Amino acid sequence: MKIISKSLSDTKKVAEDFIKKLSNQTQSEALVVGLYGDLGSGKTTFTQAIAKIFNIKEDVTSPTFVIEKIYTINDKKFKKLIHIDAYRLDSAKELSALDWERTLGDSKNIIFIEWPERVLEVLPKNHAKIFFKFLSENEREIEI
Ligand SMILES: Nc1ncnc2c1ncn2[C@@H]1O[C@H](COP(=O)(O)OP(=O)(O)O)[C@@H](O)[C@H]1O
Ligand SMILES: [Mg+2]
Repeated sequence: MKIISKSLSDTKKVAEDFIKKLSNQTQSEALVVGLYGDLGSGKTTFTQAIAKIFNIKEDVTSPTFVIEKIYTINDKKFKKLIHIDAYRLDSAKELSALDWERTLGDSKNIIFIEWPERVLEVLPKNHAKIFFKFLSENEREIEI
């Protein structure tokens, strides 16, 4: 499904719909969502919208330099939201240093990962994928 977002509130609506659809699914591992798209296409903004939906009060800023940020959430399905930016990782092995196997094994985790193509080997093959495209200053295409 392709959606054209013309504003931050459109993007927020897309995030809400996405979370709603997830609530009917069950999984035995962490839920991994790959956020694909160029710089400035809206990956971090989308994650911030998700964080709001989960009532995260802290500022959700891009984890470009720290690679990974973990937020505790109070949700029926999920206990932690994990935001990863793989842009600076040179290989999937570097994720292992962040206790990736354990993070992945916990079905109470929901993981949003920017630049997933850089660590594709260690992501579940069937992870959820969202593709972002810059169209104009205020317009983004979001394909789920
Ligand atoms: N419709 C829109 N949806 C999402 N972001 C938008 C939109 N219009 C403008 N923007 C802006 O685009 C930028 C996207 O940046 P960011 O989310 O950091 O991208 P990325 O993480 O993909 O590099 C933000 O400054 C945001 O305010
Ligand atoms: Mg980003």
